[in-house]
Amino acid sequence: MVDRNKKRVITLEEYIIQAQNKFPGATGDLSQLLRDIGLAAKIISREVNKAGITNILGEDGSKNIHGESVKKLDLFADEQMISALNRAEITCMVISEENDGIVELDNAGGKYIVYLDPLDGSSNIDVNVSIGSIFSIYMREKPGSNQLSADEALQPGLKQVAAGYVLYGSSTLLTYTTGMGVSVFTLDPSIGEFILSEDDVKIPDKGTIYSVNEGSYHSWDKGLKQYIKYCQVEDKETSRPYKARYIGSMVADVHRTLKTGGIFIYPNSSQYPNGKLRLMYECNPLSLIIEQAGGLAIDGKGRILEIEPEAIHQRTPIFIGSQENVLKVKEFLDKYS
Ligand code: AHG
Ligand code: MN
Ligand code: MN
Ligand code: MN
Repeated sequence: MVDRNKKRVITLEEYIIQAQNKFPGATGDLSQLLRDIGLAAKIISREVNKAGITNILGEDGSKNIHGESVKKLDLFADEQMISALNRAEITCMVISEENDGIVELDNAGGKYIVYLDPLDGSSNIDVNVSIGSIFSIYMREKPGSNQLSADEALQPGLKQVAAGYVLYGSSTLLTYTTGMGVSVFTLDPSIGEFILSEDDVKIPDKGTIYSVNEGSYHSWDKGLKQYIKYCQVEDKETSRPYKARYIGSMVADVHRTLKTGGIFIYPNSSQYPNGKLRLMYECNPLSLIIEQAGGLAIDGKGRILEIEPEAIHQRTPIFIGSQENVLKVKEFLDKYS
């Protein structure tokens, strides 16, 4: 007898088709793109989950354009994502943290542009702490033209047609939005399928966790120093002192913030005068997810998603999370600016 109360299992593929069917004129191209990213995520997840017994840990010996030592898994993830995106020939170029310039794909006339942080939180790979992959998808302004340039890819985050991340944690999650809410899928490795685990996720309006690398405290702006002190003061009415949590993988810190509420901060500092995190493939996609879930993401002044980009690898400070927490830190930043 069928148990009608049992929650029906919906796979990522089924979910994508159901969403596409809501748009009769849809070509199915974005659906194909999301499925290809899902395939790459499964392959990367398989490698991450046996990293200790395959020769995929450690550094590859090179440095990327950001001066960071590149890990073998950075490159593996980059290759898997780019080859998956090349399959359907609907993406013309990929811009990734691990490649200096644009990566032209086989079909230069493809209508999508994809930004990638193929492996986020690389410093955590060798110590078995959660890491992620981040993607951000734009439509070309001149579809069909075979003349590719980074200029076409310099679009504000509000113009993303889709954005999401994979979190390789205690389970592997794929979270994405196409602008109609946030859905979370959990990988069932026994059948190799991403299964819908949460739909239309909303971030709590406020939270009691703040997340920042306090090692750079000495060089912060006064307003941020005062805000962190505010978080640490005892005040039962506002559930302070807050808890401090910092994983060092943006995907993991932002996913926790999405689930529990609170705020994640990567500010400008003496080491990173414009902030460390990259606008186009870390801050914009995660800001779209958090704003679609009802939260807020600013660079200290205005919304991250409204920043007009000038360079594909540009950095920005970021304050992202629950509305109340982000508006509160902005109060301090404005007061002491
Ligand atoms: P990536 O591994 O893609 O270079 O990103 C690392 C980023 C981000 O994941 C994290 O929030 C931040 O670096 C941590 O930086 P610190 O170690 O300076 O705190
Ligand atoms: Mn890196
Ligand atoms: Mn990153
Ligand atoms: Mn990375």
